[in-house]
Amino acid sequence: MKITVIGCGYVGLVTGGCLAAVGHHVTCVDNDPKKIIALEAGHIPIYELHLEEVIAACRKDGRIKFSGDLPSAIQEGEAIFICVGTPPLENGEADLSAIDSVARIIAAEAHGPKLVVEKSTVPVQTGQQLKRALEVYGRKSGAHFRVVSNPEFLREGTAVLDFMHPDRIVVGVEDEAAAKQMREIYAPILDRKFKCPVHPQGCPAGEKPHYLVTTINSSELIKHACNSFLALKISYANVLADLCERLGGNIEEVTRAMGMDPRIGPFFLKAGIGFGGFCLPKDLQAFVALARRAGVDFSLLREAENVNKDRIEQFLAKIRRALWVLKGKQVGLLGLTFKANTDDIRFAPSIDLIRKLLAEGASLRAYDPEAMERTRETFPQVRYADPYEVADKADALLIVTEWEEFKKLDWARVRDSMMRPLVFDGRNLLDPAKMRELGFEYQSIGRP
Ligand code: UGA
Repeated sequence: MKITVIGCGYVGLVTGGCLAAVGHHVTCVDNDPKKIIALEAGHIPIYELHLEEVIAACRKDGRIKFSGDLPSAIQEGEAIFICVGTPPLENGEADLSAIDSVARIIAAEAHGPKLVVEKSTVPVQTGQQLKRALEVYGRKSGAHFRVVSNPEFLREGTAVLDFMHPDRIVVGVEDEAAAKQMREIYAPILDRKFKCPVHPQGCPAGEKPHYLVTTINSSELIKHACNSFLALKISYANVLADLCERLGGNIEEVTRAMGMDPRIGPFFLKAGIGFGGFCLPKDLQAFVALARRAGVDFSLLREAENVNKDRIEQFLAKIRRALWVLKGKQVGLLGLTFKANTDDIRFAPSIDLIRKLLAEGASLRAYDPEAMERTRETFPQVRYADPYEVADKADALLIVTEWEEFKKLDWARVRDSMMRPLVFDGRNLLDPAKMRELGFEYQSIGRP
């Protein structure tokens, strides 16, 4: 099928690349000409495992192209996937202006039948507004629009794997024809019949993904409900970790046993310095704002948000207790991204942490395998260096992101070069017993 993807961010590039990889002909468009030039030259502007290879292979086969010409791309595509950003407004609600503007262009430029797929994360009832905008602004075009909500459940870092092997594909539709067309688009994935870029030796055996057809409103709610629930789980684990610290207990033992109950499940119970990224915090905020506007009290989620906001303060309190005065102390940060295997620092706990440490007069060095250049733009006063230089003469080292490579550091060398061998592990990445054996003063989250 001929598919147009509007927006070349994380979601757009993964969606476009993967749909091309399973056999469709995809045009990805973006209104940033620099991005298009870079993509045309084969540069993928984000770090996402497998994505570069997937896109390179599809370009070679002529199944994907990049363009700044939105009107032509709209005319060509039988299905148009809207993957533009919906960043948070001051009041927490999602900014839908990019969707609105794209909708008006689609309406004006389209001829004939078009399946318009809302892939960006949006509040419930956006589909209705989108449909109305398409009809109102497209009244002279003679086009016929079918609107579909098709939320993405991709995690950064494993987005290609998640797209190719989803647990479920949710489509919110108004009629049977739209459900059928969406089934066709996803058929290779639903039937597990495609050449998998993630598993060149063959995919591991597993169940086929569920194909769930719902109303548009339900589908939009599903996305927010999932991310908010994940956030709730993390905040729950983080408060439990505080309890473990105060009353004696080990959060890892507690959550491990909890996770063995299939009604709870083992995932998203890892305690730490809180959730970040461009999805969980913003979706949680948007869902709370949406509920408030609808007259529903979702203070349960507000509390999850409050717990999360407080994580950095709690982490800092531990650092202050150990270092006494922060002014003039040299503190090293290992990890800047909001989680491992991504280059994304948006709403990363590191940002708040750096800001507060600088405000208290600490002198900072930092290392991250993927995000030093980006972070330098916001914090030029931090010195960026390799992990050993970050540790050199430091009064304390903070583990901020759970990059695997930190486990493999020569920790004896780190210990010897530090002014004081003091480590605060905000991700429970290292083994407390081993760290103490090595002679570190070591503190983590919710572990004795
Ligand atoms: C999240 C969801 O997991 C995806 O399903 C969803 O599609 C995506 O948002 C989206 O809406 O686009 P992502 O933001 O990539 O994916 O990251 P997660 O893996 O969910 O992690 C979010 C944050 O929670 C990270 O800061 C991570 O370190 C933290 N986290 C995660 C914990 O603190 N504890 C956990 O147990 C799990």
